[in-house]
Amino acid sequence: MKTQVFTIKDNQINQQDMMAAAEIIRSGGLVAFPTETVYGLGGDATRADASRKIYKAKGRPSDNPLIVHIADFSQLCQIAAKVPPEAELLAQHFWPGPLTMILQKNQVIPYETTGGLDTVAIRMPAHPVALAFLRESGCMIAAPSANTSGRPSPTSASHVREDLQGRIDAIIDGGDVEIGIESTIVDLTEEIPCVLRPGFITLEMLREVLGEVRLDPGIASENTKVPPKAPGMRYRHYAPKAELTLVEGEAAQVVHKINELAEQAMKRGCKVGIVATEETKTCYSGGEVVSIGSREDEAEVAHHLYRVLREFDELGVDVIYSEGFDTAGVGQAVMNRLLKAAGHKRILV
Ligand code: TXA
Ligand code: MG
Repeated sequence: MKTQVFTIKDNQINQQDMMAAAEIIRSGGLVAFPTETVYGLGGDATRADASRKIYKAKGRPSDNPLIVHIADFSQLCQIAAKVPPEAELLAQHFWPGPLTMILQKNQVIPYETTGGLDTVAIRMPAHPVALAFLRESGCMIAAPSANTSGRPSPTSASHVREDLQGRIDAIIDGGDVEIGIESTIVDLTEEIPCVLRPGFITLEMLREVLGEVRLDPGIASENTKVPPKAPGMRYRHYAPKAELTLVEGEAAQVVHKINELAEQAMKRGCKVGIVATEETKTCYSGGEVVSIGSREDEAEVAHHLYRVLREFDELGVDVIYSEGFDTAGVGQAVMNRLLKAAGHKRILV
């Protein structure tokens, strides 16, 4: 299959390209498109055949449900069996934006889209290209992250091309995304709202609007025994090709430990990658050192995370050592993704 690329500069949307991309969705095809979090791989959410194609293109297990993207709150009412007041409140505060809500579904969305579940994940993205695309298609668009299953999520169209070129109908290239880490997922089907995946919208922000909100015990970083509720959070995922180990503790000791581990690995003949920060990047004595940003700025670290992991794949390193990060704000999402990428291999110094 030839993958068409529609290039958009500075969010100036070419109407003809938008119409062509929308027509692909309406006829059951797949189009990757930018959102403010990561690129999504879109298909008509109401068509079982389109959802099946999404799983196939990504090589994703079909029991891992997709997120349905909408452009208008009225579409949520079309697909949810009931709309709790919490959903309206969250939409008022955070939509359009990087927040996904889980609600009971009705029959409009097929089980192929929800991985067989009776609940559906819904998000209204804030990216102007994503919103224009949703409106032009007139569809609700099911879209997981537009990567091959198991690879880091794509934060630019070139990442999508690396993984899915020739496997999907088209890519809308809207440049680099803004946030770089997937949306926060909050489950509203239980009595107390529960965060199933941390993201840019933090637990504290949700609590300010809703009052009590829980964090799924399956994703607390120190808990590796309880399985996470979101099927996608159970896989080792967001994974670079090399083996990743997180080293946490006081900065100087972390640098010392990573230098020691890197030296040992290089003696074994391994090519080593190091995830450093602006503050520490000059303190390492060997290996491929990549700065992920300043540790004072969690949003910058989140923004660079997946690009850095892909960079190490390109460099062909065998092992990666990464510094750990503070879990305040979006730092919680960063540590959640890093721990998953590391398969929970961590060293505390
Ligand atoms: O930011 C994002 O959310 C991006 C962009 C494209 O919108 N999408 C994204 O999709 O990250 P994906 O498929 O990579 O991750 C969706 C996650 C998975 O962990 C999946 O298991 C969970 O959402 N999920 C979807 N529907 C669910 C449901 N009904 N119940 C529990 N978890 C669900
Ligand atoms: Mg994903």
